[in-house]
Amino acid sequence: ETKLWVVDNFTNEKDIYPQIEEAADLLRNHEVVAFPTETVYGLGGDATSDKAVDKIFAAKGRPSDNPLIVHIGDKEQLHTFVESIPSKAEKVIDAFWPGPLTVILPKKDRVSDKVTAGLNSIAVRMPSHPVALALLKKVALPIAAPSANLSGKPSPTLAHHVMNDLEGRISGVVDGGATGVGVESTVLDCTEEIPIILRPGGITQKELENVIGPVKVDRALLSDKEAPKSPGMKYTHYAPDAPLVIVDGSSDFFQSIIDGYKDQGKRVGVLTTSEHEDAYKADAVITCGSRSNLETVASHLYESLRSFNECDVDIIVSESFSEEGVGHAVMNRLMKAAGHHVIKQ
Ligand code: TXA
Ligand code: MG
Repeated sequence: ETKLWVVDNFTNEKDIYPQIEEAADLLRNHEVVAFPTETVYGLGGDATSDKAVDKIFAAKGRPSDNPLIVHIGDKEQLHTFVESIPSKAEKVIDAFWPGPLTVILPKKDRVSDKVTAGLNSIAVRMPSHPVALALLKKVALPIAAPSANLSGKPSPTLAHHVMNDLEGRISGVVDGGATGVGVESTVLDCTEEIPIILRPGGITQKELENVIGPVKVDRALLSDKEAPKSPGMKYTHYAPDAPLVIVDGSSDFFQSIIDGYKDQGKRVGVLTTSEHEDAYKADAVITCGSRSNLETVASHLYESLRSFNECDVDIIVSESFSEEGVGHAVMNRLMKAAGHHVIKQ
């Protein structure tokens, strides 16, 4: 049975609710518990416990060659499992922690290979969500936490998404309401002289470059032909039940694509924005935000993708977005959800 602790009016980090204590106790006892972060819900387990880490992989159905991010509530914890902190890493940590940035650093030998999937580096982040921070400070252990979805599904941005995927498979869910950023943290490999973005996310390339100068982007993010440096980026991801295609063109072109699917007898879902929500005739039209503010799109993207599962559609047609700022992360996730299927005018 999966417990649900509602703490969504939680604002003060210092008020430790009894619910947080209960969740922390379960984590100390090698159990796995989901909790909100400012990006998406994470499925936490004690990173120093092989038993807990095994439970994370089992609950998600996650391939064991995909390493986990270790979450900490206190920078001092870093030194217990990281071999060294290059100066550029130090700078981005100071600038963006707590926040949606994961750094890849050289790991110490004693970190379990189960967490890092046998790599000699480790991914670490300090989330800024008050509930996540309170829980991490309470347990005072490094907590491994992948997104709390079944492997392959869109990441959860609401507690009920976690329940839909993992109820009965995990010990509990701390419900802190909607997460915020809505797409996962930026993963930055700091083991190279020029750091490399392995996964675009809540912190943009520009924001990083303002602090440490030039930052590269993993070439695999620019095409689907290259092998990604981050193991997780090679898997099909973020997918709703129905296939998804991205359409890049005018509203008339977009409608002609919808009509083409309808002519094949398909029920068509449309993923659009407030600017175009009245422009299309389809079986289900879902608005994920405003094109003029891509933060709103990032924030509602996964919820929108999940909501098509209740619409009984055969195909989902999505608008395309600019890759500026957080648009980089939005398009990266949409392209993965679509298996890189884009129809250009
Ligand atoms: O926002 C987030 O980062 C969320 C919340 C819960 O914190 N977590 C998250 O974890 O997205 P997950 O497991 O879904 O994604 C972790 C990504 C994967 O693509 C994984 O391959 C990559 O980080 N990763 C982990 N350790 C790595 C390493 N040592 N080298 C390269 N990539 C690594
Ligand atoms: Mg994930």
